[in-house]
Amino acid sequence: MKPEIIQTTKLFAPTQERIEREFQCHKLHEAGDRVAFLKQHAPKVRALATFGPAGADAKLMDALPKLELISNFGVGVDAIDLDAAKRRGIIVTNTPDVLNDCVADTAMALTVNVMRRFPQAEGYLRAGHWAAKGAYPLTSSLGGKTMGILGLGRIGEAIAKRAQAFGMKIRYHNRRKKDVAYPYEADPVALAKNADVLMIVTPGGAETEKLVGPKVLDALGPEGYLVNIARGSVIDEPVLLKYLQEKKIAGAGLDVFADEPRVPPAFFQLDNAVLLPHVGSATVETRTAMGNLQVDNLLAHFAGKPVLTRVV
Ligand code: 8YV
Repeated sequence: MKPEIIQTTKLFAPTQERIEREFQCHKLHEAGDRVAFLKQHAPKVRALATFGPAGADAKLMDALPKLELISNFGVGVDAIDLDAAKRRGIIVTNTPDVLNDCVADTAMALTVNVMRRFPQAEGYLRAGHWAAKGAYPLTSSLGGKTMGILGLGRIGEAIAKRAQAFGMKIRYHNRRKKDVAYPYEADPVALAKNADVLMIVTPGGAETEKLVGPKVLDALGPEGYLVNIARGSVIDEPVLLKYLQEKKIAGAGLDVFADEPRVPPAFFQLDNAVLLPHVGSATVETRTAMGNLQVDNLLAHFAGKPVLTRVV
């Protein structure tokens, strides 16, 4: 008999195949009546497979009194109520490290595209303006500029390495100073003040909610660029929109938004923003590795072994 688990969402196809080889999966996202569904499966279900935005709240945990493990697809666990899990003795796992390179690549792509305006330049060519109006206007170089990394964790360090290869200087702010060679800034405002590009890599959740608002954006200034590959919640989004509209910062590269997948349409009108639909980790290789880690954590737990990547 395969162990029974609940999954909250559709999974990446190869992950779905593998998880169904190992487990009997009850699909909450396909249930008509969620309450009846949870009641039916609660007596046998000891694990939950979820992903980024779906998370798991205290109400869901209450509905599953036998729950021992929440295995998340994604490194960010801001949509999982970690305190509620801790109180109930539920283990939470995530998928760190395997996505560092991909997310860091996305961070650099946004940096290059927002500063060099390649998407706009391509639009200029496709619209036939090159022959009709002449060369595309000049843009900003990356080399010699400073990237201020807000949240120098494992992904932040992968971004720093890449930015250095582009000739950029690195500064950073974390809650605690790290044992690294990069200059440390005491707070996000100081970091923004000393950066040409402010790169947001902090986890989401209550502690970082709207950390980047008017004070930080004023410090970044009209020559400064903002890139966010972390969570939309870290930025005060209406304020950012206003600053972009009024050119109070030079531009923004955004892979994440406050209420995904809904993006305020006013962003679509901006000429100084590069927008991506949360694709930081979205490659076949990385999503396969993330899915495998999610399933490996489930397998380890059901084999009575310690999970591989525990958050709480
Ligand atoms: C995923 C992410 O796209 O790992 C994360 O925290 O934000 C992304 O890699 C997200 O988990 C949705 O699957």
